[in-house]
Amino acid sequence: MGTASFPENFVWGVSTSAFQIEGATDQDGRGPSIWDRFADEAYGDPACDHYVRYREDVRLMQDLGIAAYRFSVSWSRVLPEGHGRVNNPGLDFYDRLVDELLRAGIAPYATLYHWDLPQALQDRGGWTSRDTALHFAEYAGLVYDRIGDRVDTWFTFNEPWVAAFLGHASGVHAPGRQSAADAFVSAHHMLLAHGLGLEALRAQGAARAGVVLNLSPVLTPAQLGDMSLDLPEEDAEAVARIDALHNRQFLEPVLRGHYPADLLPLVEKIAGLGHIHDGDLDLVGRPIDLLGVNYYTPIVVRAQPSTPADPAFPGSEGVLFCSVPTAVTAMGWPIMPSGLSLVLRRLSEEYPETELMITENGADFVDVVAGDGIHDLDRMSFVEEHLRALRTSLDEGARVRGYLLWSLLDCVEWADGYRRKFGIVHVDFTTQRRLLKDSALWYRDVIKRNGLGAERPKRPTLETVAARAGVSRATVSRVVNSEASVSPEARAAVLRAVQELGYVPNAAARSLVTRRTDSVALVLSVPRHGGDSLISAVVQYVTSVLEGAGKQITLMLADTAESHRRIIRHVEARQVDGVVLVPPDGPDTLAERLARTGVPIVLLGRPAIASLVPYVEVDNTGGAKAATRHLLDRGRRRIGVICGPMDLVAVQDRLAGHLATLHEDGLRPAIALAGLDRRSGVTAARELLSGHPDLDAVFATSDELAIGALEAAREAGLRVPQDLAIVGFDDIHAASCTTPPLTTIRVPTADQALALARLLLSRLDGRHTPLVVVPTRLVVRDTT
Ligand code: FCB
Repeated sequence: MGTASFPENFVWGVSTSAFQIEGATDQDGRGPSIWDRFADEAYGDPACDHYVRYREDVRLMQDLGIAAYRFSVSWSRVLPEGHGRVNNPGLDFYDRLVDELLRAGIAPYATLYHWDLPQALQDRGGWTSRDTALHFAEYAGLVYDRIGDRVDTWFTFNEPWVAAFLGHASGVHAPGRQSAADAFVSAHHMLLAHGLGLEALRAQGAARAGVVLNLSPVLTPAQLGDMSLDLPEEDAEAVARIDALHNRQFLEPVLRGHYPADLLPLVEKIAGLGHIHDGDLDLVGRPIDLLGVNYYTPIVVRAQPSTPADPAFPGSEGVLFCSVPTAVTAMGWPIMPSGLSLVLRRLSEEYPETELMITENGADFVDVVAGDGIHDLDRMSFVEEHLRALRTSLDEGARVRGYLLWSLLDCVEWADGYRRKFGIVHVDFTTQRRLLKDSALWYRDVIKRNGLGAERPKRPTLETVAARAGVSRATVSRVVNSEASVSPEARAAVLRAVQELGYVPNAAARSLVTRRTDSVALVLSVPRHGGDSLISAVVQYVTSVLEGAGKQITLMLADTAESHRRIIRHVEARQVDGVVLVPPDGPDTLAERLARTGVPIVLLGRPAIASLVPYVEVDNTGGAKAATRHLLDRGRRRIGVICGPMDLVAVQDRLAGHLATLHEDGLRPAIALAGLDRRSGVTAARELLSGHPDLDAVFATSDELAIGALEAAREAGLRVPQDLAIVGFDDIHAASCTTPPLTTIRVPTADQALALARLLLSRLDGRHTPLVVVPTRLVVRDTT
C-alpha cells in the first residue's frame, strides 16, 4: 500500500454536535429540547460535560493538529422558547468557544441545526408547522450576529433526512412521531428553513455557508459486485425511488431549486402538496458555497412486489432493503469505503460546480481501555480505508476541500445513548476523563503528514498478546483454541490481553489463506423460547448475506449429541471457512468446542461465560429499562415483575434493566419467578397479586408470561390498564391480538440475523468486532 498525500490546504478536522456533548441541559437558562424530552432517561446530561470542559477539548484538538472544528449550536440555549426572548448566557458560551478555538488556531465551523429543536416549538407543531422555519431564520440571524465575525464556515442543517424521517416517520428519533405525511411536511419545512436561514446569514455577511446532507449510494446487490451492470427495469425503479427519497429529495431542491419530478407524485399521495408554497423553492435553491457530505454506509435495495414500506422510507412499498455482504461496525453498519467514492463521483458529475467537504465519517467499535491506552485498530482501519477512497475521488477530480472525522469524543449517540463509541478520544463518563485512543494519535500523524503513510495500521500478533499477558506464546495459543489445560489466572490474563489489543486469532486467518473453502456452516440448535420466527429470520437473512458474499451455506442442525460430533468433525476438517451458531438457550459446550477448532465462529446471544467468540445480542437491558420507565411515566409505582427462567442470559439482563430503573426512582421490586409458558405466567401473576394487593403494574420478561398475567388480572376482576398495567417483551404475533392488545418491547429478529451474518464476514475479514448490540424498541398498545 503506497503513501497517499492530500492537496495542499486540504482541511483536516473533527465534528461534534451540541446535544451529544454539551450536557448542562438546564444551566444558564437553556430551555428543553425535543431530545431532552424524547430520551427515556435524561441521558443528555452530563454527556461529555463539554459546556464546562470546552477549553480542555479545544486543547486536545490543538494537540492533534486539528485545523477545523465543526460544532453545533443548541437552539434552546440561545432561544429557550425557540423564538423571542434571547438567552444571552447561552450565546456567551459559543462566544467563549469560538474565541478559544481561534486562540488555538482552529477554524470554527458552526452548524445551526443538529436535531435539537426547542421543545417549546415542538409543542406548537415543531417542523410540521411552517412557523418553525421562520423562527429558524430569526435564530440563525441572532447567532450570526454574535459570532459571525469570527466563524469561518456555516452550515444551516445537519442531515435533514434523519431529522424528518427518523423523527416523524419511523419515530426512532425525537420527536418520535410516526406519520409519513408529517415526515414529508417536516422535510419541506426544514428545506425552507435552510433557505431562510441562508438568507439571514448572507444578509449579515456570511462568507461561506451551506448545508450538510447524509448521502448514500443506492445500489442493488448485483451492483455491489459490478457497478456497470444494466439493471432490470423493476430494480432500476426501486433504486431510483429510494435515491429520490433519501438523496435527491434534498440535493435537488438545494442545488437545483426544484424537487425531483419522480418524487412529487409520491409526496402528493402521502402528504398532499399544500405545504409547498409558491416561491419556497426559489429560496431553498439559493446558491450555497459548500455542500457537507456525511457518509457512513450504502443503501442496498431491489424490487420485491408486496414488500410493505419501510417505516423510515414512506412510499417504499415493493422495495426490499437488502443486506450487504461486508464487514460491519459494532453499530451493524456495513463497511464500504468505495461507497464514499460513488457518492463523490455522482456529485462531481451532476453538480460539478459545487464545492464539497466530508463533514462526517467514522465508526462505532467496541473499545477496551487497557493500561497503556486504547488500541482501536478497527476504527483506524475504517478511517484509513475511507481516506484512501477519498484520495481516489480527488484523483478523479472531486472538489473535496476537507475531511472532518466523526467524532472527536465518545458521546451520546442519540437513541442509542452512551454505548456507541465513535470518538477518537475516549471519555470516561463517570470521571469525564479524556483519553486519546490510538486512532487519535494515528490521525494526528495523518494530519502532520497531510496524508497516509505507506504502512497500514498493524494487527497484533500472538507474540504481542503473550508479551502483554506475561505468559508464553504456547499458553496464548492454548487459550485462543479453548484448551482446558490453562490455569484460570493465565486464561483471564490472556483474554484480557486479547480484548485490549483487538487480537484476531491467527489460526483462522491462516486456515483462510491456505485453505479457503468459500463455504460457511449455519448451525442451528433449537432455542427453547420464542425460537420459530427468529430461526426463520436467521435462515433467510444469514443465507442471503453470506450467499451475497459468495459463500456456500451448509445448514446443520445441532439437536443430538451425535449431531454435535458430526458438526465438530466437519469444522475440524476445515470444510468451512466459518460458523454461524444459533445456540440453544442456557449453557452448552458446542460453542466452546467449535471455537477450539480455530475456525472463526459467531454466536447469536451473549454467551454465559466470557470467551473470545464474537456475538450478536439484543439490548435486553435497555428494553427492560424502557418498559419500566414507560410504566413509571404512566404514574405506576407498585410494579411487579414476572421473570422467566433465570438460567437464560436474556432473562437475567431483562431483570437487571428492570431493577436498575426501579432503583433510580427509589422503588422496591416485587419479583415472581416463572417458567416459559403462559400457564406459569398466570401462576406467577396470581402470586404477585396476592402478595402485593396494591400492585398497579406488571412487567413480564416475555409476552407469553405477560399474556398469562392478563388472564390472571381478568380472573381477579382487575381492569387492564385502569387497575393494572401490563408490559411484555418480544412483541410476538399474539401480543397484538390480546384484549386489550399488549404493550411490549420489540426485538428485531431480522436485524439480529443480519448483524450475525455481517459479524461473521467481519471476522473472516480479519476484524475484531467482539459484539454487536441490536437495539430494542417500546411498542405502546392498550395494556398501559
Ligand atoms: C450522523 C449524525 C451524528 C452521529 C453520526 C454517527 O448521522 O449526524 O450526529 O450520530 O451519525
